[in-house]
Amino acid sequence: MEYPVERIRGQFPALASGAVFFDGPGGTQVPQAVIDAVSAYYREANANEHGLFATSRRSDEIVAEGRAAMADLLNARDGDGIVFGANMTTLTLHLARIIGRELRAGDEIVVTRLDHDANIAPWLHLREQGAVIRWLEFDPADCSLKLEDLGRAITERTRLLAVGGASNAFGTVNDLPRILAAARAAGALTFVDAVHYAPHRMIDVQLLNCDFLACSPYKFYGPHSGVLYGRREVLERLNPFKVRPAADRAPDRFETGTKNHEAIAGVAAAVDFLAALGQDPGTGWESYPAGRRRRLKQALAAVRDHESSLFARLLAGLKEIPGVRIYGITDPGRIRERTPTACFTLAGMTPAEVAQRLGEEGIHVWDGDYYAWEAMRFLGLGDRGGAVRAGLSLYSSAGEVDRFLSALQRMR
Ligand SMILES: Cc1ncc(COP(=O)(O)O)c(C=O)c1O
Repeated sequence: MEYPVERIRGQFPALASGAVFFDGPGGTQVPQAVIDAVSAYYREANANEHGLFATSRRSDEIVAEGRAAMADLLNARDGDGIVFGANMTTLTLHLARIIGRELRAGDEIVVTRLDHDANIAPWLHLREQGAVIRWLEFDPADCSLKLEDLGRAITERTRLLAVGGASNAFGTVNDLPRILAAARAAGALTFVDAVHYAPHRMIDVQLLNCDFLACSPYKFYGPHSGVLYGRREVLERLNPFKVRPAADRAPDRFETGTKNHEAIAGVAAAVDFLAALGQDPGTGWESYPAGRRRRLKQALAAVRDHESSLFARLLAGLKEIPGVRIYGITDPGRIRERTPTACFTLAGMTPAEVAQRLGEEGIHVWDGDYYAWEAMRFLGLGDRGGAVRAGLSLYSSAGEVDRFLSALQRMR
């Protein structure tokens, strides 16, 4: 069954501008269904929670629907494991402070050099509590974690391991089952930053058996917001910072103040949008079997195929342009081990100049370090303007890849 890219593109009003949105790793465009859900919230349900009147009751339902949708996307047991927040960074800083309350001097935390700083800095702050940080390094040749060092990084004093599902800079997909199993065997808590992973791969928190997993709906076609999954027992055990009148049950006890209800309405709509792409094998894109989780699996498998084949085209084209240096996995045989996010420099031009020139042609890409601050410094790119990042999304097309490549060719 052919991937219906044109029909999918038709659902995204922003694409009508003709711009090429290769800035997806920084945030994706939203389909009309998400825009409608957010605006319907304001028209029909705008109120605070837990009141005894219609709009408040509807707000409560919308939050419950948002939790249920995210539970399906992540395969959480139920919505009680889903915490909503402003964004992943805020949720992670909050959680780290809470976990810090349990730590003793000399307790160890493992972080990786490959991660976004939102999954490093919150843990580094715990050095103020006496925590010792251990680093898992990556191989600059293909920007993949040095898993052979895992056994040395994790010790009997490890209390928490924080790792990304995929690198937002280089697209490397980490071997989460192996990494998380090693941490669990040492009795450590596990935290997964799935912000860059979630738009490209199916997540199963029960299979991963992680304690926490954070993601950001605005990277998977939803509104600006953050989601934290937490294992129920751990959410109940921890002692969160909270105001006294707020509910003391999980997940509410981790949500500080009034939630962004309109964004949560949009989060549920984004999950439903993805699920609706799910295909019943043999019957085509229009029909799918009941069960949102099953449809999501089918949808994300199709998205992964589409993005991988487009990325093969992008990578092959980039390699042909003289002066282009690509960071990350470049072996065409390993394309399915990575997300469709290319990080590169072009000789003779700064990353900002390249992004500026592409931007003038309506091609949106990022330049800089994208907060993969440690990794960019490790590669020596930190004080050289970082690199250019072009990321594909489920609405990217072959024509857009070709337009991007020919714009770069012309720059040479
Ligand atoms: C891998 C990764 N982790 C964390 C973040 C931070 O997410 P948020 O903007 O929701 O705080 C980002 C944002 O770019 C990211 O790409």
